[in-house]
Amino acid sequence: MIGKKMEDALNGQINAEFYSAYLYLSMSAYFETINLSGFSNWMQVQFEEEQFHAMKMFGYLNDRGGKVVLQAIDTPPCKWDSPLAVLEETLAHEVKVTGLVNDLMILAREERDIATENFIRWFIDEQVEEEDNANKLVGQLKMIKDSPQALFMIDRELGQRVYTPPTAAEGNA
Ligand code: FEO
Repeated sequence: MIGKKMEDALNGQINAEFYSAYLYLSMSAYFETINLSGFSNWMQVQFEEEQFHAMKMFGYLNDRGGKVVLQAIDTPPCKWDSPLAVLEETLAHEVKVTGLVNDLMILAREERDIATENFIRWFIDEQVEEEDNANKLVGQLKMIKDSPQALFMIDRELGQRVYTPPTAAEGNA
């Protein structure tokens, strides 16, 4: 059985993951309004990944005899000044989520909840990739400055991204 403190913290994280999904879906909609459908597609893949993260926690909490309590999801922003501003917000958001995941790990250790510690390790690794993906795009957008041709090329590349759910071995799902 999972302890109450850990249960509350995981419920909070389920909400944070659903907020992330909502944020990226809003970013996807924004990119459609400026005709960058490749960026929009990339954000939709982010949206799907975040839903996977939330549902992974949902499943784990149920498996440990905890009670999932869903909370209201905050309204995400819907306007940005540029593609770079969107990706900078993405990176800042992922850094924040990394902090939340680290806090879950620290709490699991304090509570001597080894099963949750093992479970959270997957998210720790995932955050490395999440930050890296956003960081690379921020770097590329800074590099191209205001070149519409280069932006078009990146957009075409991001249009190729496809959501692939982690395998059972990767995701323990
Ligand atoms: Fe669920 Fe993007 O971290």
